[in-house]
Amino acid sequence: MKKFLLNVLALSTMFSSCAYAQEGAALYAKCVTCHGANGEKVALGKSKIIKDMGVDELVASMKGYQDGTYGGAQKGLMKNQMKNFDDAQIKALAEYISKK
Ligand code: HEC
Repeated sequence: MKKFLLNVLALSTMFSSCAYAQEGAALYAKCVTCHGANGEKVALGKSKIIKDMGVDELVASMKGYQDGTYGGAQKGLMKNQMKNFDDAQIKALAEYISKK
C-alpha cells in the first residue's frame, strides 16, 4: 500500500511537471526572436543569457519587470512582454527556460 501511494505521488509529480513544460514551451514562443530558441542569446545586446539563470532568479526578474523593480535600460520593453502573465505562467516559463 505504501509503495502504491508512493507511485501515485511520483506519477502525479511527473504529470504536473509535464504540464509545466508544455505550457512553458507555448508561452516561450513569443520570446524566441530576442532570447533565441534556447534562451542562449543576449537579447538586443543587453540581457543576461537567460538559460543560465536559475528558476528563482528567472521568476524574480520577470515579476520585477512586471512591478518595475527590476531591470536595466530596456526594462520597459520587458515590462510590456510580461504584462499579461500570471504567477503560474511565470513559474512555467521559468521552469522551461532553466531546463534549456
Ligand atoms: C523584443 C525583444 C524581447 C522579447 C520579445 C523578450 N525579451 Fe526578455 N529581455 C529583452 C531585453 C532587451 C532584456 C534586458 C532588459 C533590461 O534592460 O533589463 C530582457 C531581459 C529578460 C530577462 C532578465 C534577464 C536579465 O538580463 O536580467 C528575462 C528573464 C527575460 N527577458 C525573459 C523573457 C521572456 C520569458 C520573454 C517572452 C515572454 C521575453 N523575455 C521576451 C528582450 C526581449
